[in-house]
Amino acid sequence: MFWLLLVATIGAVAALDNGVALLPYMGYNTWYDYGCNISEAGVLKVLGIIAQLRGYGYEYLNLDDCWALKERYSNGTVRVDPVAFPRGMKYLADKIHQAGFKFGIYTCRGNLTCAGRAGSLGYEAQDAQTYAEWGVDFVKEDSCYASSNQSVAFSQYARMRDALNQTGRPMVFNLCGWNPWYAPVGASLGNSWRIGDDGGNWDKVRENIDNMASLHWWTNPGAFNDPDYVLGSDPRTYGFLTPTQSRAQFSLWSVLAAPLILGMKLSNLSSWDLETITNREVIAINQDSLVTQGQRVAGGSLMGSSPSSFNVWSRVLQNRAVALCFFNNAPIAQNISCDSTCFAASGLAPTTVVAVRDVWLHKDIGFAQGFLVSEVPAFSASLFRLTIQYM
Ligand code: GLA
Repeated sequence: MFWLLLVATIGAVAALDNGVALLPYMGYNTWYDYGCNISEAGVLKVLGIIAQLRGYGYEYLNLDDCWALKERYSNGTVRVDPVAFPRGMKYLADKIHQAGFKFGIYTCRGNLTCAGRAGSLGYEAQDAQTYAEWGVDFVKEDSCYASSNQSVAFSQYARMRDALNQTGRPMVFNLCGWNPWYAPVGASLGNSWRIGDDGGNWDKVRENIDNMASLHWWTNPGAFNDPDYVLGSDPRTYGFLTPTQSRAQFSLWSVLAAPLILGMKLSNLSSWDLETITNREVIAINQDSLVTQGQRVAGGSLMGSSPSSFNVWSRVLQNRAVALCFFNNAPIAQNISCDSTCFAASGLAPTTVVAVRDVWLHKDIGFAQGFLVSEVPAFSASLFRLTIQYM
C-alpha cells in the first residue's frame, strides 16, 4: 500500500506542457559572441547573417545577459538598457519575427543576473507578462545571486514556469542552473536545463560531455539536457575551440540530442565553421524524430585523474539506423574501434549487417558486422550513420 502511494505521488508531478521544442531547438545566443557588449545594432547584424541559416533549422535568436538595467521602473517593470537598445524590445522582436526567426531573452532566478542586471526574483509574473507583450518566444533563466539548495531552485523555477504558462504565450523555458541534478525533474519545470558549467573551452566541453553520460534517460520531446552552446574555432569570441575540436563538439552534440545554439561570431565565419554548422546529415542526426539521447558505449570519463583516451557514443535513430561517434581524447591520431561489445551496447547483434555512411564526408563507405574501426585525428571525432541491412 505504502509503495503504491509513493509511486502515485511521484507520478503526479506538474509538467510543463507548452507544446514547443519537441526537437532540440536550434539558433544563436549572444553570450560567447558579444558578452555584455550587446546592442540593437549588433543583434540586427546577427539577424542579417543568421537569416541565411534558417533553411538548416536555426530558428531562435536569443539575447543573453546585459540587455536590462539593474534598476527597475518604480512600478516594477524591467527596464531595457536605453543606450544599447534605443528602440526597445518590441521593436527588436518584430524585426526578428519579420525575418522568420523567434526571439529569446535572458533573466535570472536571483535578484540580479550574473552580470549584475535586474533578476526576476519576486517579479516572475510581471516579467513573464512583459516578455509576452514584447513577443518573446524563449526565456533562459540563470542562477546567479540565488540559493544553490535544490528545493529552493526547483520552486523558483516553478514560479517562472507558472508565470510563463499564465501568459498563454508558448515560450521555450531554458533553466540555467549548471548541475546534472536538474535532469530528473527538468521536464516538469522547463524545456531544457543546463547540466554543467559554462562550456567555453575544450576542458569544459569535455566535462559537460561526461556529465551527459548518465542523463540520457531524461531526454524527451520538449525536454532536453543542455550542455551549453556550440563553439566555433574563431578566436574573436569569448569561447572557442580548435577547428577539429569544434567539429568533434558538433558531432557529439548531435548524438546527444543537445540544443544546437550557436555561440560563435557569425560575421566572417570561416569556411570550416560554416561547413560544420550547415552539415545537413549531422543536423539530421541531432533532429532525429525518435528523440533519444546517445549513450557512451566504449571508453569512460574524458576528464579526471585517469581519463579515457577515446570514447564511442551511439544513438538509435528512426528508420532502423544508429549514429556512431568515435571521439579521440588523445593529442595524437589513433585507430578507434567499436567491437562486438560496443555494437551490442548500441543495440546491434554481432550478426547484424549494417551499411556505413560517413556523414562528414557525405560518403557510403561499405558494410560492417559487429566491428567498425575509424582512424581519428588528435582531439577530433568521426561520425557515421549505420543502417541495418539484415539481422
Ligand atoms: C552564466 C551562464 C552563462 C551566461 C552568463 C551571463 O555564467 O551560465 O550562460 O548566461 O551567466 O552573465
